[in-house]
Amino acid sequence: MVTPHYDLSDKLTFGVPASCSFFTEVTSDEELSHALDWARENSQPTLLLGGGSNMLFHKDFEGLVIQISHKGIEIINDDGRFIEVVVGAGENWHEFVIHTIDQGWGGIENLSLIPGCVGASPMQNIGAYGVEIIDVLNYVEAINLATRELKRFTVEECELGYRESVFKGREKGKWAIVRVSYKLDRQSELKMSYGAIEEELKDIPHEDRTHKNVSDAVIRIRQSKLPDPEVLGNAGSFFKNPVVSHDVFVKISVEGMPSYPQSDGRVKLAAGWLIDQTGWKGHDRGSHGVHDKQALVLVNKGGATGSEIWSLAEEIIASVKERFGIVLEPEVNQIR
Ligand code: FAD
Ligand code: EPU
Repeated sequence: MVTPHYDLSDKLTFGVPASCSFFTEVTSDEELSHALDWARENSQPTLLLGGGSNMLFHKDFEGLVIQISHKGIEIINDDGRFIEVVVGAGENWHEFVIHTIDQGWGGIENLSLIPGCVGASPMQNIGAYGVEIIDVLNYVEAINLATRELKRFTVEECELGYRESVFKGREKGKWAIVRVSYKLDRQSELKMSYGAIEEELKDIPHEDRTHKNVSDAVIRIRQSKLPDPEVLGNAGSFFKNPVVSHDVFVKISVEGMPSYPQSDGRVKLAAGWLIDQTGWKGHDRGSHGVHDKQALVLVNKGGATGSEIWSLAEEIIASVKERFGIVLEPEVNQIR
């Protein structure tokens, strides 16, 4: 069913006003195919929506928004240690993480509490606390919006990088991800290299720690610095952490600047620190501003529009460029 003049704001964690000319929700490949037929017959452009937690609408969308709500968690292989599961794109990501932990499956406990749906997890290779989707991905099933071809993408074909994939890059806007398969491991090693995790778990002896303990620690850390979208509109980190050449790093490095050497010799910098140093942390414009506990997160305090939030983002980009010579790129998908 296609609904005209649909208000999307409740479906977007930024909570900015946004609507679309037409809206539909699909729960199967067949329903998706019908929605795409409808859009073609009615000459409407399409936009895919998952949990709406990584988007900023600058204005209303003139076209058909299709919310991908395919459900289901199916075990396709279990050898007693490794488990391969296929998950519908519309499953809630955090609920799926908790399900894996309840089953005793390890691998994604560090990705607890990331908002949004399973289908978007390969879009930007979601990552947190030392783990990325690439570490557990088996394959992605996606439908080509133009040809309706159902293709299974291998991990290599997904071209995953830091907050990047073929779906967000080269093939942007061409595929609807309908199912994602992950390979999990009952005996996976716990990843506690992020200092804050070790600190959270210091009272539990190493040999007694479980995947659930790591998940609980990540949840506590996240709740201490990231705003809950139910309370304060946001889309997580607004910008990507910039990755620069070693030469650039040497030129701009100052005492106290966090830096993370990459395997290709480049260096990742902390955008939150750069924004913080430029004086923006806690910046308040009444209806919106910069989060006071994490400068990388822009917040809608109530009543801000997407274009107002984007104007603030542009000012931040300009001042970080002036101070450090680094041009920050948005991580959040801009719908213009
Ligand atoms: P949406 O916002 O609905 O969509 C994002 C993009 O993917 C859009 O371009 C959309 O068109 C496209 N898309 C969505 N579903 C599909 C599909 N099925 N097929 C094809 N294209 C699709 N991200 C991290 O990586 N790490 C974090 O630690 C993290 N923390 C966050 C914390 C908070 C408080 C918030 C609000 C966000 C955070 N995010 C984080 C960002 C966000 O949660 C993730 O990027 C998440 O994967 C987005 O999922 P979604 O379903 O909400 O995607
Ligand atoms: N920092 C500051 N001031 C700030 C914010 C950060 O000085 O206001 C410093 C911190 O002290 C730390 C460094 O910057 O030294 C990095 O901060 P943090 O560990 O909080 O991580 P981040 O780089 O800001 C990234 C991801 C998050 C992810 C966390 C944990 C990006 C763009 N963001 O944040 O992902 O949850 O690491 O792994 O890579 C998201 O993508 O939406 C997201 C929330």
